[in-house]
Amino acid sequence: MSEIRILGIETSCDETAAAVVADGRRILSNVVASQVEMHAQYGGIFPEMASRAHVEAIVPVVAEAMEQAHLGWNDLDAIAVTYGPGLVGSLLVGVNLAKGLALGRGLPLVPVNHLEAHVYAHWLKVAAEGAAPAGLEFPLLVLIVSGGHTELVQIHDHGDYVYLGGTQDDAAGEAFDKVGRLLGLGYPGGPAIEKAAREGSPVFDLPRSWMKGTYDFSFSGIKTAVARVVEQYGGHPQGRLAADLAASFQEAVVDVLAEKTVTAAKVFGAGAILLSGGVSANRALRETVRARSPVPVYSPPIFLCTDNAAMVAACGTFRFLAGERAGWDLDVEPSLRLA
Ligand code: KG4
Ligand code: ZN
Repeated sequence: MSEIRILGIETSCDETAAAVVADGRRILSNVVASQVEMHAQYGGIFPEMASRAHVEAIVPVVAEAMEQAHLGWNDLDAIAVTYGPGLVGSLLVGVNLAKGLALGRGLPLVPVNHLEAHVYAHWLKVAAEGAAPAGLEFPLLVLIVSGGHTELVQIHDHGDYVYLGGTQDDAAGEAFDKVGRLLGLGYPGGPAIEKAAREGSPVFDLPRSWMKGTYDFSFSGIKTAVARVVEQYGGHPQGRLAADLAASFQEAVVDVLAEKTVTAAKVFGAGAILLSGGVSANRALRETVRARSPVPVYSPPIFLCTDNAAMVAACGTFRFLAGERAGWDLDVEPSLRLA
């Protein structure tokens, strides 16, 4: 059987991305146009601006992905596109372009759930420390931590998920972004806090919300606690204080995420833990989960943790093989869930 080649398109948040993947595993091209610098000027994402930026970037990004893959449209088997969850105006740009291309080129259209795509980042073949080997075996446990999500999910097979728990308020990445702003570290907060934390010590005893007896999370309390300390010290933390607060915040959040993830893996007999989503780029999180877990812990390289279209194409390949196709009436689903 010949190789299956799929073009993936991703515009759910603030990255405009397109990629071509062969057999759900081999990256032939992976192009990402980030809006992060634009959003950094305003300290966060403005949906109107995000969707406008997608409109400007999407056509050249797709063209670049096809060119880097050295493929023509006839070499593709399908087009996969993220249809949710995400920002409605952003999702629409990708979905509408994917529909137009699929219709125009006579290709099947495959709908992809963005959260599921983060899971399939682990199927992509990369030479990176900590990346999953070929032929991952089920059952698996995945922690999806990003700017919009914090979820613990059991994976029994391709497409077979059981939701265990998630955040009751802020997503983990959202908490990093908000605390980054409180500490004057800029946007996005995650990488900035990780960097600042290296210069500090976790001397502040910030509250950990354990949500006992559940696999749920809550991060609004710790954010408020950081705000209170910032106020006590006059409102503009800098240098040592900002670094110590960053280290204390990161340690508390990582402690809770790691403990619940490892507990779930033990209770449900998972053969391995997958760390997915932008926050899984955090080294302290990776190291802490690895140190506590009795089973292997896999984390993709950073460029596959944050939003990209290679993971969309990989996920789309498995959905394609399972016979899933979208109609021309495919609509975006901003609140789509996994399982
Ligand atoms: O998966 P992603 O690129 O986009 C969403 O689907 O949300 O995740 C972005 C989030 C942001 O909140 C960012 O602050 C966070 O991931 N992030 C990190 C790190 N790198 C990115 N959080 C903690 N540590 C990091 N190194
Ligand atoms: Zn994401």
